[in-house]
Amino acid sequence: MQVIHDPEAFRHACQQLRQRGRLGFVPTMGALHAGHLQLVRFAGQQASSVAVSIFVNPTQFGPGEDLASYPRTLEADCAACEQAGAALVFAPSPAQMYLPGERTRVRVTALTETLCGATRPGHFDGVCTVVSKLLLLTGECVAVFGRKDFQQWKVVQRMARDLFLPVEILGHPIVREADGLAMSSRNRYLSAAERTSALGLVRGLNAAQAAYAAGEREPGVLQALCAAAIADAGLRIQYVQLVDSEQLQPLSTLPGNVPAVLAVAAHAGATRLIDNRELGEAE
Ligand code: PAF
Repeated sequence: MQVIHDPEAFRHACQQLRQRGRLGFVPTMGALHAGHLQLVRFAGQQASSVAVSIFVNPTQFGPGEDLASYPRTLEADCAACEQAGAALVFAPSPAQMYLPGERTRVRVTALTETLCGATRPGHFDGVCTVVSKLLLLTGECVAVFGRKDFQQWKVVQRMARDLFLPVEILGHPIVREADGLAMSSRNRYLSAAERTSALGLVRGLNAAQAAYAAGEREPGVLQALCAAAIADAGLRIQYVQLVDSEQLQPLSTLPGNVPAVLAVAAHAGATRLIDNRELGEAE
């Protein structure tokens, strides 16, 4: 497996890999866990070879967020990528991704104004900017994103379509720990007590899904059931919102033909966690 830091060398290596067939691409910020490695293996099933990027993108962190403390574990990440079958890791520095004097941001409107976009101003501009740079360097590929970041997946899909990027964007189902907690690089910040409280997220989503399965279709009721379980676990709720799965707009009714997702964000201590459930889908 090759590890490359220079963007142009990465572009060239992707061109070489494409000569073997379809290229898979998994963008990450490192601190890889078993969920990321499932994305790499899944990309390997869709393509002949897989490239992984590892870059803690400064422009998607807001003031007071965890940019400085975000775990950086490049050596272990590379070993894990190799084990998962990646052919190439791209690990640039911030100065290599954001050239001196850079003035370009990529913005997707509307889809970025709800959920995490409403509570993290500028976050999706940072995500879209870095993902478009990464996809332009990678070139034609199938890129895999985790559906824990449901909004990110939908925003990137829209962006790729709107910019005519030669990529297919796939969303991989959420990978969970045995007790149901969605895997996240930020789980490593949790104390034992916070880790227990964090299960309130999946409990809340399960409660809402059970009510949905029993015929409940009132968004307010589903949200309230979910929020109650999250609050009972001692988490500080940022949002519990039922939105349609394409435009990500809040739903005031839940017609049967509209695919919907119940999305949640809450803090366990200082750690912000997100999770979601696509209603109607068995998990
Ligand atoms: O989901 C992430 O890890 C990041 O937002 C991404 C897509 C790698 C962009 O920095």
